[in-house]
Amino acid sequence: MKAINLIVILLIIQIISPTLSLANPPPAYEGRRLYVSYCQLCHGTDGKGDGALAKAMGIKPADLTTTVRSRSDTILTKIISGNGRQTITGRDRHNILSDAMPEWKDIFTAAQIKSLIAYLRFIGSAKHELMGDPKVGFELYQQYCQVCHGVEGDGDGIMTRLMGIMPMDHTNPNETNRLSNQDLAKSILEGKGRFMPAWHNILSQSDVEALISYIRLLSH
Ligand code: HEC
Ligand code: HEC
Repeated sequence: MKAINLIVILLIIQIISPTLSLANPPPAYEGRRLYVSYCQLCHGTDGKGDGALAKAMGIKPADLTTTVRSRSDTILTKIISGNGRQTITGRDRHNILSDAMPEWKDIFTAAQIKSLIAYLRFIGSAKHELMGDPKVGFELYQQYCQVCHGVEGDGDGIMTRLMGIMPMDHTNPNETNRLSNQDLAKSILEGKGRFMPAWHNILSQSDVEALISYIRLLSH
């Protein structure tokens, strides 16, 4: 099948298929969304603790890119929610002695705190930089990629059965981490193998960067 025919078929499927919605957005993706709204003011865009409000308030939020690694999910839940924060003892008390870090228990559900932790784990272990806006990437992914790669990105979209193909599982960090952002961009723009279409006529460089950021969060 010529690449151009494939693209036409895909565009038709996209128009006729009902809008699919994600019941559960990927945790690290959802966590980043919450982080950007509620945490980066103090902890900074990259989590290094240099947010605009921190300077204004004269406080020193922890550098989340290093501190959270040694903390368990239970401890992080206590720190973020505030529930039981005062009962933390020993080495885990490090960095949480002031009350400058707000208590979020009335703001977030348990699931949202889990998502925030998933994003903090991503910040602490990310192998590749987020180049574009994952929110834009999420929308483009649902629009163009899920037919093959699956709504959840695990490679079981409806086209896989129709065409008998095995797209990359974007939720598997072993598959995605071995490729640099440049490698991924090249495959998306120029295509890969017989059935991964080339998107350079449809997507801009910044669209592709947004998609890559989404894939990075998806595979954490
Ligand atoms: C008003 C500023 C502020 C905001 C907003 C804020 N923090 Fe903090 N955070 C701090 C400060 C300051 C500390 C250092 C703790 C201390 O001084 O007791 C801290 C510490 C932490 C720690 C402990 C770090 C460690 O040592 O491992 C975590 C985890 C954390 N914050 C997560 C978050 C999350 C998640 C959000 C968003 C939901 C958030 N913070 C929002 C100020 C803030
Ligand atoms: C027609 C089905 C199809 C669609 C639509 C599709 N892909 Fe793929 N994709 C594949 C297949 C099949 C592979 C495996 C290719 C191979 O390794 O031979 C793949 C592989 C990939 C890879 C791995 C490339 C590598 O270097 O190993 C990336 C990244 C990727 N796709 C991203 C996307 C993105 C982003 C979109 C949406 C813009 C998308 N794909 C849409 C079928 C598809």
